[in-house]
Amino acid sequence: MSEQKQQLEKILTDAVLELSTADEVKLGEIEVRFLGRKGEVNRILQTMGGLSPEGRAELGSAVNAVKQKLEAAIAHRRTALQAELVAELGSREWIDATEPGKTALAGHLHPSNAAIEEMSALFEMIGFRRERYREAEFDHYAFEALNMPKNHPARDDWETFFLDAAENEKMGKMVLTPHTSNAQIREMERRRPPIRLISFGKTYRRQSDVTHLTMFHQFEGLVVDRGINLTHLRGALDHFAKNYFGKDRVTRLRPHHFKFTEPSFEVDISCGLCNGTGKINGVSCRVCKTGWLELGGAGMVHPNVLKMGGVDPKEFSGFAFGWGLERTMMMRAGLNISDIRLIYNNDLRFLNQF
Ligand code: DAH
Repeated sequence: MSEQKQQLEKILTDAVLELSTADEVKLGEIEVRFLGRKGEVNRILQTMGGLSPEGRAELGSAVNAVKQKLEAAIAHRRTALQAELVAELGSREWIDATEPGKTALAGHLHPSNAAIEEMSALFEMIGFRRERYREAEFDHYAFEALNMPKNHPARDDWETFFLDAAENEKMGKMVLTPHTSNAQIREMERRRPPIRLISFGKTYRRQSDVTHLTMFHQFEGLVVDRGINLTHLRGALDHFAKNYFGKDRVTRLRPHHFKFTEPSFEVDISCGLCNGTGKINGVSCRVCKTGWLELGGAGMVHPNVLKMGGVDPKEFSGFAFGWGLERTMMMRAGLNISDIRLIYNNDLRFLNQF
């Protein structure tokens, strides 16, 4: 009996030793060789014939104990091999050809740029030509040539940033354009009538709150030709309002004063929420209160401005308008932006909504 026990002991140590370096294939072989029906462990049982009944029982349980230990050692090795494999695959770059594709993140135009393209197309549709003029401009083009001589109090309406640059003898100081109306003079200097200009530009003013930005955009329209009158202005404004805001919207001109136009107006558009009535179910409309929303300024180009642009006011007349882009954008139905500054905070949570 002691001889068989010794053999069992040896089988166990041999097997464990081999297991320690076995790969998956070797593991299978070891399993068969030691634990198989005709394997080394079972072979010991064949020697049982010469033993006493007690001896047989003893050998039987010794064999079972070794089997269990071996099975546990094999299972342990198997788990270790699998863990190694998983670790290796994880560190390897590999392609799962069955994985569904990932959609690439597509960018889109900033809402302001998208609005510029859209608005510009509407004016181009009726013959306007798009041009862009300077943001850093001489006083001459921003004020003087627009019929606002130096020290004229009207200039105070434009809370202007002056640039720290040398003053030009003829053109004056340099400013960051506080409006896009400089485009009017620049365009007239550039080409003879007929002129049909639409110009988008960055504008700067010393202001910042929920409805004002230090940097914002304006767009300027200018039409100069023979026989241009107020009905042409109205026609262009209505074309824009109906196409940008909706076919039921109408505009109205409210008398105002600008130095560079005569007569001058503020352009209002009927409110989209209350349909221009100022009331919803008998309650004052919370968006407009009056039925109208202010869009921007407009008017017939002042003869002095035509002259400054080198155009003879006896032969030609013109109309002009200038509006804030962000304001116009925000007034489109359904766009409920509580703080205009959100547009330029570059927060993707905001921008992704467009
Ligand atoms: N430039 C004016 C402003 O910034 C707006 C304006 C008013 C432009 C009347 C025009 C105009 O072309 O005719 O407030």
